[in-house]
Amino acid sequence: MRGLVALMRSPAYVAAANSKSRRSTSTAISPSKPAPLSDPFEAAHVDLLLSPDSPFHQRTTILNTCTSTQEILRTQLPPVPAVLATEVQTKGHGRPGKPWLSENPLGLWVSILLEVPSLQLPLLSLLASLAAADAVRALTQLEPALKWPNDLLLKNRKLAGVLVETISRVNQSPLALLGLGLNLHHQTSDFPPELKNSAISLLQASRQRIPRSQMLAAFLENLTRRLDQPISEAMEDWRQACFQLGRTLSIRVGTTILTGTAETLDDSGNLNLRLPDGSVQKIASGETDFPA
Ligand code: BTN
Repeated sequence: MRGLVALMRSPAYVAAANSKSRRSTSTAISPSKPAPLSDPFEAAHVDLLLSPDSPFHQRTTILNTCTSTQEILRTQLPPVPAVLATEVQTKGHGRPGKPWLSENPLGLWVSILLEVPSLQLPLLSLLASLAAADAVRALTQLEPALKWPNDLLLKNRKLAGVLVETISRVNQSPLALLGLGLNLHHQTSDFPPELKNSAISLLQASRQRIPRSQMLAAFLENLTRRLDQPISEAMEDWRQACFQLGRTLSIRVGTTILTGTAETLDDSGNLNLRLPDGSVQKIASGETDFPA
């Protein structure tokens, strides 16, 4: 509690309680000239959009700026569940330790501190990717492809990534720190040259500006649903959305790169890779080539 109170008193905290309630709507824009960016991001909006019995109701804090929402939650450790979003991050990071471009308010940059059953923890990244894809589909009718283990793609480019880290506790199960970065309002010139051909925003893919509050609420609702769903059903949805099964992939596991055919994704989240010698390697986590 101390952590959350300190966070709420910090100058960067956007006092949702002081903001007027405004319901956000998505805006269709003309293909030639996107409207000027206006996307107020307020915790009160998120709460209005969540179902009243959501475990995330009234758990959201939105900052103007911070280093990384992952790092703030890790150091402040507010009571769970806690949702921390921010307009911009100065040191956003992805997997594995790569920088995550978020020095602009053009995307949904959010972390969630939560406690999940230890059996579910290894699957959290997959379940969160599914929930993010559910939210995108619900708000745009677009169907993101999933790239094992944590990316959402549209038009073969990266729309979003999920990062799950853990926080160990003495005599208690670890807490999960779930981060989502989802590109919303970027135009081509907003991406640095090295990302122009591999990243995409929802604006580019759908010509719609989906407000961050709407996307966050839709993500939280779907995350709740996916966490409650039988694992076998969720994993079947993952297999349906994963474009890599049956394809030849290179996967970096630590310092080793394995190349083979992605045969199956099992209910524990392992990717089974058929190697050229005929053997099958079960891979729990790794980086797959992009786009594969
Ligand atoms: C990846 O694709 O590698 C995962 C990217 C995760 C980025 C999000 S943005 C909010 C949160 N804070 C961070 O520093 N990282 C995650």
